[in-house]
Amino acid sequence: MTLLLLSALAVAEPPAVLPGLEAETAAEAAVSAPPSGLDERVEELLRQMTLEEKLGQLQQLDGEAGGDYRPEHLELARQGRLGSTLNVRGAKRVNELQKAALESRLRIPILFGYDVIHGFKTIFPIPLGEAASFDPAAAERSAAIAAAEASAAGVRWTFAPMVDIARDPRWGRVAEGAGEDPYLGSVMAWARVKGFQGEDLTAQDKVLACAKHWAAYGAAEAGRDYNTTDLSEHTLRSVVFPPFRAALEAGALTFMSAFNDLNGVPATANPFLMTQVLRQEWGFEGFVVSDYTAVQELVAHGLASDGAEAARRALGAGTDMEMVSRLYNQHGARLVQEGRLPLAVIDEAVRRVLRVKFRAGLFERPYAELGRESPVLRSDHLKAARLIAARSMVLLRNEGGVLPLDKRIRTLAVIGPLADDKRSMLGTWPADGRAEDAVSVLEGLRGKTFPEAKVLYAKGCALAGEGAEGLDEAVRVAQQADAAVVVVGEDADMSGEAASRAALDLPGRQLDLVRAVLGTGTPTVVVLMNGRPLTIPWIAENVPAVLEAWHPGVQAGHAVADVLFGDVNPGGKLPITFPRSVGQIPIYYAHKSTGRPPDAKNKYTSKYLDSPVTPLYPFGHGLSYTSFELSDLALSAKTLPPDGKLTASVQVENTGNRPGDEVVQLYIQDADASVTRPVRELRGFERVTLKPGEKRKVEFPLTPEHLGFYGRDSRFIVEPGLFRVFAAASSVGGLEASFEVVPK
Ligand code: BGC
Repeated sequence: MTLLLLSALAVAEPPAVLPGLEAETAAEAAVSAPPSGLDERVEELLRQMTLEEKLGQLQQLDGEAGGDYRPEHLELARQGRLGSTLNVRGAKRVNELQKAALESRLRIPILFGYDVIHGFKTIFPIPLGEAASFDPAAAERSAAIAAAEASAAGVRWTFAPMVDIARDPRWGRVAEGAGEDPYLGSVMAWARVKGFQGEDLTAQDKVLACAKHWAAYGAAEAGRDYNTTDLSEHTLRSVVFPPFRAALEAGALTFMSAFNDLNGVPATANPFLMTQVLRQEWGFEGFVVSDYTAVQELVAHGLASDGAEAARRALGAGTDMEMVSRLYNQHGARLVQEGRLPLAVIDEAVRRVLRVKFRAGLFERPYAELGRESPVLRSDHLKAARLIAARSMVLLRNEGGVLPLDKRIRTLAVIGPLADDKRSMLGTWPADGRAEDAVSVLEGLRGKTFPEAKVLYAKGCALAGEGAEGLDEAVRVAQQADAAVVVVGEDADMSGEAASRAALDLPGRQLDLVRAVLGTGTPTVVVLMNGRPLTIPWIAENVPAVLEAWHPGVQAGHAVADVLFGDVNPGGKLPITFPRSVGQIPIYYAHKSTGRPPDAKNKYTSKYLDSPVTPLYPFGHGLSYTSFELSDLALSAKTLPPDGKLTASVQVENTGNRPGDEVVQLYIQDADASVTRPVRELRGFERVTLKPGEKRKVEFPLTPEHLGFYGRDSRFIVEPGLFRVFAAASSVGGLEASFEVVPK
């Protein structure tokens, strides 16, 4: 029973409502049940379909850059041979193509997909940033807004959320996920699916979600995108799978296969993933789409000698729809004729696709309603983007109270290659977002200071490359100012797909720029905009104030200004560890202990000769302009049976002098198990807002789903023995208590 429930633990409670935003209902009920008569309708269609039409339903083709369909699509649609498209969007265009599909013999509508990853037109922070909010309601809200905007443009299906756990920041796609932790990843996966799909899949303003990339794509060796992965079944089940399971429980009806080889069998042709786990164990009722040309790539992997064999292997494993490459259509009929692929396999894949089309209400409402597409960004959407961006920011350091800045400041220097760059802040998947709609940091800060204040700007240096021409000017500007804000990091193309990096330092001369500005003696704040953890030990050591803003989206400048001037007190926490150097990677908080934990006095313990073992900033770290204290960690039981439950409670108090947010985090350690367990595992968190002096008791349920693990036989169990519990403000330190699970 617990096997199926593991990732549901995250979703037992509806998320708290995001302050300042309209309440979105976060119901717990599973997404709309299949309509009655569904199977009959599917079978009825299937009976009438030719093999060609069946294979057509399994084909997804790409549109033109810019969102138009291709002339060929019209032809295929009329013949009933185009199941789905990606990137075709815009209500008028979608309807033209849909009309062609509805003129076909069986009138099966096309499913229009698009990558709506962190916003459609109103661009929100990259998912890694949003995860730093530790606020599932924020993630749900941004996904709901994205769904409303995308569906207005005829999009019925987003290829999101990406729920890959990523513990190697060299991999550029860490930007698209929720970071390193399966628990946080599950909470965010659930929230995003709920936001995209809501409770009623047929609703006009919703889109189907797609959990991707199934599976282990985030474990690419050496952090190099698309690279091979090799993970034990234990790690797959404990670390990689939970967010997928959460997405499924939230109602996701589609999954996308991953590009990577997994333990010798590429994911796209991997029956363990597609059939055993997803269908047989989890009862998934939807369909799996391959990633872009991933079926064709089975040949390059060396799993198939030609296209026919690639199609046979992928379809046979349970990858139902083929994205972009056309091997199912080219070879499917012959594979069946030659007896190499049972027709039943194709029929089953078609059934799955049709079922989802019915459940999404596509047959009842195939067309996009004209007139819902808004030419301008809605003010309530912008307001949400600003709030969520500010909630995503993490104050990494603030020595000597440099922050918040004083609005009465006379002269402020705004410096750096990202200070006035409107494209980069939109991040890796800007969808239909436009740079001209974005607010740069320079604009945001100008808008916040008093009218008589002087805001000076210098770019300082290019984002990358060796040119140092601007440094002198930056120094001159900083010298004239009462404070300097230096905005540095990565541009939008330096993270995301095919954007792995072997070094994680600030690119180009940006560190020299920071040093030069700091060298003027002007109080200096570094604002980081990046899609992944960076190795910034010098900055962490020397710059008094450092704000991690990620790529914050269309309202970036306003949100940064809100935080720097203290209108918003930062409360985000790191969803991924910041290493000191690339040599420490992989580094994550939920590691195993080793038999020789690091001991400075003993050479023969697990350490480096040339670096500390600790990270630069740990998972869960993030400061505030106020201070908090945790006290009174209490457990409702000291012993419990394996199927028992207990509650951990802890008091949190705002001990400073401004209102602020703390993310109270609850970790466990199973200290005595038949399979070694991580030194800590997150099992609950809550972001609370407290006034100065205000206290709150926060409670966390600990049920078998929180306490169990996958044993040597891959079954989920709770074992008797000692458990430690930590209530903390990050994955390091905090209060500790313990209890024991005793045999029944
Ligand atoms: C990416 C997917 C994406 C697809 C369609 C692929 O290259 O890996 O995440 O959904 O393209 O754009």
